[in-house]
Amino acid sequence: MKVMVIGSGGREHVLVWKLAQSAVVEQIFCAPGSDGMSDIAEPVAIEVGDIAGLCSWAMEHAIDLTVVGPEAPLCAGLVDRFRAAGLRVIGPDSIGAQLEGSKSFAKAFMQRYGIPTAESEEFSRLEDALAYLRGRSAPVVVKADGLAAGKGVTVAHTLAEAEAAVRECLETRRFGEAGNKVIIEECLVGQEASLIALVDGEHIVGLLPAQDHKPVGEGDTGPNTGGMGAYAPTPLIDARLMAEIEEQVLRPSLEGIRREGWDYRGFLYAGLMLTERGIRVLEYNCRMGDPEAQVILPALETDLGLLLAACHDRTLDAVDVRWKDAVVVTVVLASGGYPGAYEKGKAITGLEEAASDPDTVVFHAGTMLDQAGEWRTAGGRVLSVTAWGADLPAAQARAYAGAAKIRFEGMHYRKDIGDKALP
Ligand code: AMP
Ligand code: GLY
Repeated sequence: MKVMVIGSGGREHVLVWKLAQSAVVEQIFCAPGSDGMSDIAEPVAIEVGDIAGLCSWAMEHAIDLTVVGPEAPLCAGLVDRFRAAGLRVIGPDSIGAQLEGSKSFAKAFMQRYGIPTAESEEFSRLEDALAYLRGRSAPVVVKADGLAAGKGVTVAHTLAEAEAAVRECLETRRFGEAGNKVIIEECLVGQEASLIALVDGEHIVGLLPAQDHKPVGEGDTGPNTGGMGAYAPTPLIDARLMAEIEEQVLRPSLEGIRREGWDYRGFLYAGLMLTERGIRVLEYNCRMGDPEAQVILPALETDLGLLLAACHDRTLDAVDVRWKDAVVVTVVLASGGYPGAYEKGKAITGLEEAASDPDTVVFHAGTMLDQAGEWRTAGGRVLSVTAWGADLPAAQARAYAGAAKIRFEGMHYRKDIGDKALP
């Protein structure tokens, strides 16, 4: 197969890396891709938002299978366009992608199909939202309805904070159209985990459960980021809990997707809160997670090319999805200032030394090669140092040994990735 991956970050690098090991994949393209993966994927200079351009390019180059990394092109209808052109592509159609694109849409879906989630109310009028808040007590969670680049959720510890978040959405319109509605919901307490599944419209297969670390600082302090590190499998989800997730989340999600009539053949990501009162779905994403992909895919024993082709052909039930007997950890190295403003173009050293261990891979999230052939930073999340081992401490030690060999000005990373799973 000739395969194209869409996107350019760490998630796309690991997708390409895993596809490069597939027996059925002959050639890999990545649009736009990055210098960090150009040894295994030919870059295609088309941006992820140019759906028409990507579709024509895939037709002209007879791409057999396209895999979409980020949510924006999925919500914007990339899959609809590709399928109308007869191209094979992994992802939901634009309606199914609204599970991520609109929190209000996702809530209604969960209510219709009995999927456990936080109790919530939604508002489009400022006065109504404020009146509702006056009858509540803190903590409470305020969410902008639409895509807000990870900045749309406020876990408010006081009502004043909640009111400010509501005003930002409905009054000052910080998120534009994405803030036309707000969702106000109960604040849940528990450990968070990411359960990502592959759905082919008729079958659903849960992948290895992972745990992301969203806040920038150790001990989950500071502002939220895209994710500062992850590990899989997480022991927080044992066989008993996995069976509950299948029963309460995966099966009804598939049932909903079928009954709604969406053409959903791709990844479905359930962001879970494991509470004392049971599992709750915090959010859906319609794609692989980043950095979850960097820990789930290295643990996959099954051929990813075959698995994704089966997902497209609706034959996931015929694939034996196997996992390596290993724990994988990834530590994200971020630019100084991230998730706030940061500078780019800092020289990076130590990449080869870090990758010299056979059980370590450094995935590139935001880097570029300069004209002299030196690596430079080019994003907030710069690198994702991934390592595996027989158990979590072994994988952690290896990932941190790798991270310690890399340097760039302003670099920071969390030193506690995976600690929440240690006894
Ligand atoms: P979301 O984009 O919905 O995943 O929200 C981002 C983060 O906000 C989550 O990873 C949680 O840490 C937190 N969060 C979202 N909803 C709730 C909730 N109902 N209760 C507590 N924390 C939440
Ligand atoms: N790691 C969180 C996400 O991909 O949304």
